Amino acid sequence: MKGASYASRFLMSTYRTHHCAELRLSHAGSEVTLSGWVASRRDHGGLVFVDLRDREGLTQVVFDPQNLPGSHDLRSEDVVRVRGKVAARPEGTANPKLATGEIEVHALTLDVLNRSETPPWPLDEENVNEDLRLQYRYLDLRRPRMTRHLRLRHAVASAVRAHLDGEGFVEIETPMLFKSTPEGAREYLVPSRVHPGLFYALPQSPQQFKQLLMVAGIERYYQMARCFRDEDLRADRQPEFTQIDLEMSFIEREDLYRLVEGMMRRVWKTALGVDLAIPFPRLSFREAMDTFGSDKPDRRFAMRLVDLTDAFRASAFKVFAGAVAAGGVVKAINAKGFADATQGQIDLLTEHAKAAGAKGLAWIKVEGGAWKSPIVKFFSDAEKAALAERLAVEEGDLILFAADAWAPACDVLGKLRTILAEILRKLGKLRIPENTWDFLWVVDFPLMTFDRDSQRHVSTHHPFTAPVPEDVPLLKTDPTKVRGQHYDLVLNGVELGGGSIRIHQPEVQRMVFEDVLKIPKEIADSRFGYLVKALSFGAPPHGGIAVGFDRLCAILCGAESIREVIAFPKNAKAQDLMTNSPGEAEPRQLRDLRIQAAKPQG
Ligand code: AMO
Ligand code: AMP
Repeated sequence: MKGASYASRFLMSTYRTHHCAELRLSHAGSEVTLSGWVASRRDHGGLVFVDLRDREGLTQVVFDPQNLPGSHDLRSEDVVRVRGKVAARPEGTANPKLATGEIEVHALTLDVLNRSETPPWPLDEENVNEDLRLQYRYLDLRRPRMTRHLRLRHAVASAVRAHLDGEGFVEIETPMLFKSTPEGAREYLVPSRVHPGLFYALPQSPQQFKQLLMVAGIERYYQMARCFRDEDLRADRQPEFTQIDLEMSFIEREDLYRLVEGMMRRVWKTALGVDLAIPFPRLSFREAMDTFGSDKPDRRFAMRLVDLTDAFRASAFKVFAGAVAAGGVVKAINAKGFADATQGQIDLLTEHAKAAGAKGLAWIKVEGGAWKSPIVKFFSDAEKAALAERLAVEEGDLILFAADAWAPACDVLGKLRTILAEILRKLGKLRIPENTWDFLWVVDFPLMTFDRDSQRHVSTHHPFTAPVPEDVPLLKTDPTKVRGQHYDLVLNGVELGGGSIRIHQPEVQRMVFEDVLKIPKEIADSRFGYLVKALSFGAPPHGGIAVGFDRLCAILCGAESIREVIAFPKNAKAQDLMTNSPGEAEPRQLRDLRIQAAKPQG
């Protein structure tokens, strides 16, 4: 965390005159008191050396066990108070890696404030099983790296609050016990004791409340909002997570972009001392999918999707010609330097492609001046020439193809692009520059997509997103042609945030629920009636965004998973291993709630 500086004001007390990262040569000769944990103990030439650790850092303390015999018995993670004299370290023993590396403290007194059991792993060990870390999270968090993450998270939250405060935002809490609105992700239900058989739901986001606050005339709302989603977990997903959630009245998209860009600039300056370039570039959804195969493209590396549709329209290779004849496309990517992919690796890529919906994965390896592939024999010279030129084919390349309708073809290659980047990076064949902040607004999403499984239109973002005004007439006739006023904030290939200008006219909102999403009127009324009613009492034009705060902090910390920046996260199976939750409820509690718990069979 280059440049990050944390206020380290401690309340000085009988336990300490300084913290453990504070003493320098200029303190030599003075008497100090330090308190903290024994990070390590070494016995040397009749002396005991202890690295004493507190939140701020380490100080070396030297004990003469003849005077302080207790120092012999000190063990890792014991809590002690030491009074002693600061001295320069002997010639040649300074430790330049440590802030306090030029001095040591010669102990005069030692108080053991508490003993520690042997920790389940040495705390300075980096490769520790994550479940073990989560089971003993309080020890895990004691490690400097984790403490740094939590403090950076705090610094970022403070910067966000300061920024939004300066922009006239009001922080307002919204309910945790909400109404069940089974749209989007699965919800956590909470049974009501007072109303047996009825349920609250934990909010997936404060979306509806923040819109109601706009109707209430608050004009600028924000909240560090806790959200709950019962989803399958991944490195960047937790069942409960935090959003920087905000909403504004009387604004357009441009106003929102400016606000968020200013906020990110402040955050980067605070956390990393970096001046972000603003405004952030914008990419349309269509362009993002077409070029990178993703609506959250990582543009720190190229490997662009190349269109070959026209070149293969009349191909003798029927898979390609057939896809084009059916109105689809032929697209390819060039994984530079991966011609030496093993059959196992090709099979794995093919599995990934099939999992993403591809019918197969055609490939060409360029090795020893020849194109090796089961399919080139079908290609004409003109087709080969088009390929070579558009993909800049060179010795050592691996070309991968998708022939399908536009959307699935882009999607498949986009997923392969991400997987290949990771493989090639590990092999040292692709360099992804570090400390590059590739921010991007992805815009111009379609308001609706047609879901083949349910044979219904579904909202691309959520059903409160406003259509572009001139497209409103298309809502009833051709919903997938309607452009939405939705925007996603993307950073280094991660969807950091999403939001939209909202529908503020009750009749348009009703039309979306009933005519486009085909939610029957009674159900729409019972689920969203209060919101539509609120809109009918003079709702101002409004819009907002939610930025995933855990994802933001993970990127700033350079952490692989958001679990690294959450004090007490759940593991990948949504369990808290420290407290052992979820757990069983008492029969009496269940009786009160009139709930019968059925254990899964087998
Ligand atoms: P959305 O559902 O896109 O929008 O969520 C906004 C951002 O929240 C983060 N996020 C998550 N982070 C961790 N774990 C999860 N399970 C998880 N799910 C989402 C992502 C995402 O970009 N109410 C709308 C926002 C709006 O329209 O204003 C909403 O919640 O970074
Ligand atoms: P086939 O003629 O079906 O044996 O396919 C020949 C090669 O093309 C195989 O490597 C398939 O995996 C691949 N292939 C099949 N369908 C597609 C498709 N839609 N897009 C890309 N490659 C495909």
